Amino acid sequence: MNRDLETLLKAAREAQRQAYAPYSHFAVGAALLTASGKVFTGCNIENASYGLTICAERVAVGSAVAAGERDFVAMAVVAPSPGPISPCGACRQILVEFNPGMRLILANLDGEVLETTAGDLLPGAFTARDLGL
Ligand code: THU
Repeated sequence: MNRDLETLLKAAREAQRQAYAPYSHFAVGAALLTASGKVFTGCNIENASYGLTICAERVAVGSAVAAGERDFVAMAVVAPSPGPISPCGACRQILVEFNPGMRLILANLDGEVLETTAGDLLPGAFTARDLGL
């Protein structure tokens, strides 16, 4: 892994500390790198109405988009999973929307890391092309 991606993973670990996960106790952190070199972070935000929970990945994307950034090159995600964290289907769809080629650095707390891309995690994604656009 190159140094930029190591730094991104470190930012994800920092963001993980802010997780609001009183129900699952499964804290997730994400850090998103933009083409302009900025980093936006996210953590999971749970709710007593469980289904309203927002994943760390989507929080990071929302933060970047709200700041006017849409050109994403990489995202690091870390969680206390047995192996590298596996982003949920909803998050995969959100990531592919912006860049199927986005690099993903998926990690756990034991230092296990999987490098892949958003598109590789969601073959056959529904996209603007499916809308005829
Ligand atoms: N979660 C994430 O934030 N990202 C993932 O990639 C997987 C799951 C969160 C949602 C919920 O707060 C907790 O992890 C357990 O599902």
